[in-house]
Amino acid sequence: MQDFLISISQSPFSLAMATSPWVVPTMQSIHIVSIAIIFTSILVITMRVLGVAWAGVSIRSTVVRFAPWAWVSLTFLALTGIVLILAEPIREIMALSFWIKMILIAIGITVSVRFLNYVRRNEAFASPEQQADSGLKRNALLTLVMWIAIIFLGRFIAYDTLIWGHLSPLSL
Ligand code: HEM
Repeated sequence: MQDFLISISQSPFSLAMATSPWVVPTMQSIHIVSIAIIFTSILVITMRVLGVAWAGVSIRSTVVRFAPWAWVSLTFLALTGIVLILAEPIREIMALSFWIKMILIAIGITVSVRFLNYVRRNEAFASPEQQADSGLKRNALLTLVMWIAIIFLGRFIAYDTLIWGHLSPLSL
């Protein structure tokens, strides 16, 4: 595995990105702006589901308005994330935080798609008066906590051995 990652890091493409003075900082900046957009979108939808914001707007309208922002920013996160991986494959792929983050993102996407389909299928959510039931509220809160954990894990990648000690493959 390590040999494979070393060969990627020494490919002309990876070397060009790793040695460029602007590629990594620019990708990181776009990554951070995209995090702000995806998190704001998820926060507004969660607050509407919890009934603490946008009270006069239906859950479906809130979702229709904010979900596309979340999907577009997720696309930017994936694209910039791939460039960051190619620039420093060992630092990223060998980090435990990176893999926990990826698993949580996969769960987050699955839960979000299910939630969006549920809101789309259920006509009651088109009414501004319709409130979410307690199960949906609990899931929305859990999903928000999971996206916060994803943000923490993204930052943890840079401190993987400090945080996870010998559990981090980078410590070997
Ligand atoms: C969808 C695929 C994604 C990939 C492939 C990806 C990959 C990466 C990579 C490689 C880094 C650089 C880590 C480092 O070297 O320090 C990073 C940083 C980070 N990522 Fe992601 N990421 C993705 C999505 C997300 C999402 C959805 C979030 C949160 C909503 C997120 C939050 C962060 C944060 C907070 C950082 C640290 C930024 C910094 O301080 O410079 N990432 N990500």
